[in-house]
Amino acid sequence: MRNKIIFITTTIAFIALIACNNEVKKSATEKDLKEVFKSLELSENIDEAIDSLVAKMTLEEKIGMLHGNSMFTSGGVERLGIPELKMTDGPLGIREEISRDSWAPAGLDNDFATYYPASGSVAATWNPELSYTLGNSVGQEARARGKDMLLSPAINIIRTPLGGRTYEYFTEDPFLNKKLAVPFIEGVQQNDIMVCVKHFAVNNQETNRGTVDVLMDERTLREIYLPAFEAAITQAKAHSVMGAYNKFRGDYLCENDYMLNKILRDEWGFEGIVVSDWAAVHTSVKSLKNGLDIEMGTPKPFNEFFLADPLIAAAEAGEISEKEIDKHVKRILNVLFKVKAINGKDRAQGSIATEAHFKDAYDIAAESVVLLKNEKNMLPLKLDGLSSVAVIGHNAKKKNALAGFGAGVKTKREVTPLEGLKNKLPQGIKINYAEGYLERYSKNENDQKEEVTLHGPVPVNELDADKLEEALEAAKNSDVAIIFAGSNRDYETEASDRRDLKLPFGQEELIKKVIEVNPNTIVVMIAGAPFDLQKIDNYTATLVWSWFNGSEGGNALADVLLGTVNPSGKLPWTMPKNIEDSPAHATNSFPGDATVTYKEGILVGYRWFDTKNIDPLYPFGYGLSYTDFEISDLKTDKENYDATDMIEVSFTLKNSGAVDGKEVAQLYVSNPGSAVEKAAQELKGFKKVFVKSGASEKVSIVLPAKELAYYNEEQKMWLVEPGTYKIKIGKSSRDIVNEVSVIIR
Ligand code: BGC
Repeated sequence: MRNKIIFITTTIAFIALIACNNEVKKSATEKDLKEVFKSLELSENIDEAIDSLVAKMTLEEKIGMLHGNSMFTSGGVERLGIPELKMTDGPLGIREEISRDSWAPAGLDNDFATYYPASGSVAATWNPELSYTLGNSVGQEARARGKDMLLSPAINIIRTPLGGRTYEYFTEDPFLNKKLAVPFIEGVQQNDIMVCVKHFAVNNQETNRGTVDVLMDERTLREIYLPAFEAAITQAKAHSVMGAYNKFRGDYLCENDYMLNKILRDEWGFEGIVVSDWAAVHTSVKSLKNGLDIEMGTPKPFNEFFLADPLIAAAEAGEISEKEIDKHVKRILNVLFKVKAINGKDRAQGSIATEAHFKDAYDIAAESVVLLKNEKNMLPLKLDGLSSVAVIGHNAKKKNALAGFGAGVKTKREVTPLEGLKNKLPQGIKINYAEGYLERYSKNENDQKEEVTLHGPVPVNELDADKLEEALEAAKNSDVAIIFAGSNRDYETEASDRRDLKLPFGQEELIKKVIEVNPNTIVVMIAGAPFDLQKIDNYTATLVWSWFNGSEGGNALADVLLGTVNPSGKLPWTMPKNIEDSPAHATNSFPGDATVTYKEGILVGYRWFDTKNIDPLYPFGYGLSYTDFEISDLKTDKENYDATDMIEVSFTLKNSGAVDGKEVAQLYVSNPGSAVEKAAQELKGFKKVFVKSGASEKVSIVLPAKELAYYNEEQKMWLVEPGTYKIKIGKSSRDIVNEVSVIIR
């Protein structure tokens, strides 16, 4: 009995001890930290408060703030009221909580969030207001989950259509990129949360991303790959930036003096913090000196990080001064004050997975759908006399919120295309569903061998005979067939680039056979990156493009198919006929090996196709509507301008069709007389305008003449060449409707 009592008492004491230890490990609440902070009685002035805090910190405490102390937090100093810096991905909404020391889900039941449309989709709206809506909405969700930093937006340029993260990035065009990035960042940061703009920089491929050294000329860097990052810092005042995995001109991006110190801080005046991509750090002293502030990483003991014990050792050995370390700690404290994480009064509390946020996701999805082809006017679907619809394809039911290598979202709502149609089609219409193709991947080990350059998933392209039969039966027995093809987030994924542009899983054959038995077939692609649609384009009259489109994606898509929403999405990249037509492939400069040289230079995306006169399958900026738009009366407010002037371009946009709709008027500029190489044309303005059926709107786009500048390598500056420039307005890069000339003096 006595023994039993002793055992029980010891067990209770042991449990209490564990509980107590857990208590210690758990970070203190915001309230506790505020109390501690208050008791320090520091100055109201933030700079002075920061100086006092740093003066009170030990070397270990300082260095504790410079590295991850869990998978998604960096260290705080509880005794001084400094919280951990809490981060969250990312690209599709607030990531589910994962364990502190591994990628395993934390297994919570309160970490559900809105699944937002991926960036490719946002870019296809060509609507900066929606980018702001997204930033504001996802920023609120991040706050509701108690975060300080959102690891977004991802704004690398889409250099190759094969890029595994194409769906996560906006576009191939630097102007569209910056016009979407800035409002997104403003939307997020107004919620007392900082963005982390990634992946800085030239992280344009997943193949060898951890080692590849990216080389290009300075002009290309400045004109194509940096503008959105620069705007993120100088215009949107982003508080943090993520250093990329790869190297640039010989140095890793997390220890790249030129990029982090010279460009980011000295040129652009960045005052925030640089956080490493996960496990992208390779040195202690060099990283810190060259501009990195926080090292984050993948599972290993956190004290072994380069900016942890090895940095303490380096400091003790005099390889780095405490003053240098203080500089980085001060930057971190500064951004923590900015987002009110330290001692914050009235910090935004946010909200998550609300109907309002699902509506935001819907609005973006609805404007992102791109109508590629409507030759028989099958769309919008005519409901009169329609009694049955075959819904064919694994993608009709496929969910994409959680999948692949990259960060996903745990959500209670992801309306699939099939569910969307069920929700929106009138009751009496029968839906005949057939899976059509199977999503299968080859397990062949040869596919992963060293000599294979690209290691993306290998799909099995044979159709299953029974599934095909079922699909043909459904198509035969229905008035209309809708095939949902394309890919998914297991096939398009972070950490690998796709091997080719082919439609996977036998879809080409499926589409062809279904159309043979039912010519009233609509093909809907669900994908985040270009595919080779040449073959199916030959025999498909109706083609729609949708994306990894968030919680409400299925409803938005059904509304477009039924005409409740008039499509207004435009491609944010070029859909080539063949991958060999694309610049990085035509110049045989992808994916490189130890190094990759961007041989196409400034001619990225449509700049290449237009300059080299290569026909794409679907051009940049392309997308149809259920109505027709006419552009006329293009003029500028003057004929001659100085390089510092604003050029006011105006025109009339008429909706001459039968339904209301939105058109994206696109402004391209050519400078054929230039003394230096220039692309045939470059996007320099755009406006999405709603016009009622039969009505006309006066549209004006202000084009700062400085947007016409090119980067002069010798003088290391932007120069606007005097001369004649053509200003063109169009409905896509290949559908230019009107042009005028102006002279820059
Ligand atoms: C990605 C980042 C992401 C980080 C944390 C990395 O693999 O490149 O974009 O934010 O993981 O999940």
